[in-house]
Amino acid sequence: VKVNKVKLPQNSYEILIGRDILVDVGNKLKKMGFKGPAILVTNPVVRGYYGDLLQDSLVSAGFKPVFLEVPDGEAYKSLERAGKLYTALSELQVERMTPMLSLGGGVIGDLAGFVAATYMRGVPLIHLPTTLLAQVDSSIGGKVAVNHGALKNNIGTFYQPRLVVSDILALKTLSREDLKNGLAEVIKYGIVRDSTLFELMEANVDDIGLLNLDLFEEIVFRCGSIKARIVEQDEKDLGLRNILNFGHTVGHGIETASGYKIAHGKAVAIGMVAAGMISQRMGFLPESELTRIKTMIERAGLSVRIPGQNVLSFLHAMQHDKKKAGGNLRFVLPRKIGEVFIHESVSPPLFESVLEDLS
Ligand SMILES: NC(=O)c1ccc[n+]([C@@H]2O[C@H](COP(=O)([O-])OP(=O)(O)OC[C@H]3O[C@@H](n4cnc5c(N)ncnc54)[C@H](O)[C@@H]3O)[C@@H](O)[C@H]2O)c1
Ligand SMILES: [Zn+2]
Repeated sequence: VKVNKVKLPQNSYEILIGRDILVDVGNKLKKMGFKGPAILVTNPVVRGYYGDLLQDSLVSAGFKPVFLEVPDGEAYKSLERAGKLYTALSELQVERMTPMLSLGGGVIGDLAGFVAATYMRGVPLIHLPTTLLAQVDSSIGGKVAVNHGALKNNIGTFYQPRLVVSDILALKTLSREDLKNGLAEVIKYGIVRDSTLFELMEANVDDIGLLNLDLFEEIVFRCGSIKARIVEQDEKDLGLRNILNFGHTVGHGIETASGYKIAHGKAVAIGMVAAGMISQRMGFLPESELTRIKTMIERAGLSVRIPGQNVLSFLHAMQHDKKKAGGNLRFVLPRKIGEVFIHESVSPPLFESVLEDLS
C-alpha cells in the first residue's frame, strides 16, 4: 500500500493507494476510533460491484453499515438529493460521531461530502473513490458541492475527509469512457507540475486500456501527491491551487454548452489544447511542446476539437461577456510540460482565433 499524506494546520489525513484494500476499510475505521453505525452513500452501479465487499468489511469490524443509495448521474448531485439524505440521516438518528463513507465516483463524493459537511454541522467523512477521476482528483482537497440551477458546483464548501482509500482494483470495472475522463486529469497534472508523469504517460498511453495495475498505482499515487502538495499550500483555492484549473476555463464552457452531454474530462482535454495554443501564439510555449500535448491527448483517445457549431457559438458568447465585464481573459498557460503560470490578460481576439482553429 502506498500512502500520500495531506498535511494541514487542522484536518490532516492519509490517502491509501493499493489493490484490494477496500476489504480493510472496516478495520481501519475501527483503529481510528469509530464504532456503531456507518453510513455508506453510493449508487446502484457501484453498490452492485463493491457493496457486499464493504458490507462484509464493516460488519466483521463490528460496524452496522447502512447503505443510502442515490441514482446514478450528475443530475442527482443536487440540493434535492442532499435533502433526501438529510431526512434519511435524521430518521436513522445519525449522530455527530457516525462516519459517513462515499463509495463511488466524483458525483457521489461531492454529494456525500456536502451532506457530511452540513449535517449537524459536520460528521466524519471517508472517501472511497472508485473512478480514476475521483482517485486522482475529486477525493483529495476537500471541495464538496452540489449543482444548483444551471450552474455546476455553485453550492458548496471546503470539508476535508478523515481518510481516502483508493482501491486500484475498482478501476477494472470502469467503462472506457470513464477511464478516458480520468486520463484527461492525469495528463493535466503532468503538464501542470510533473514532466516525469507526462513522460510515463508518453511511454504507456497506447496500452492504457490494458489497465496495467502497477502503472495505475503509480499514476494515482503521483497525481495524489501533486494535488496534496498544492492543497497544503493553498487549501482554500486563493492562489496556487488555481493552476489546477488548467484547461478548465474552456472546458467548463464546453460542458455547459453541451448540456453536460460532453463529459468533464473530454471537455478539459480540448481546453488544455486551447490553452496550449494560446500560450504558443503568445510566445510562451515552444511549438514542440504544444505538439506533445496534442499528441498525448489524441493517443489517450480524447478529441482535440470543439464539437459542433453550438458549442463554438457558446464559447464565443462567453468570451464576449467577459470582454464586456472589463476587458481581458484570465488563463492558466503552460510554459513547458511540467510548468504553468497564470496570465491575467489574454487578448480576446487571440482567444477567438484559437477557437476558430479548433472548430
Ligand atoms: N471535488 C472536487 O475537487 C472535484 C474535482 C473534479 C471533479 N469533481 C466532480 O466529480 C464529478 C465527476 O466524477 P466522475 O468522473 O467520477 O463521475 P461519476 O461519479 O458520475 O462516475 C462516472 C460513472 O462511473 C460509474 N462508476 C463509478 N465507479 C465505478 C466502477 N468502479 N466501476 C464501474 N462503474 C463505476 C458511476 O456510476 C458513473 O456512471 C463531477 O460532478 C465533478 O464536478 C469534483
Ligand atoms: Zn477537472
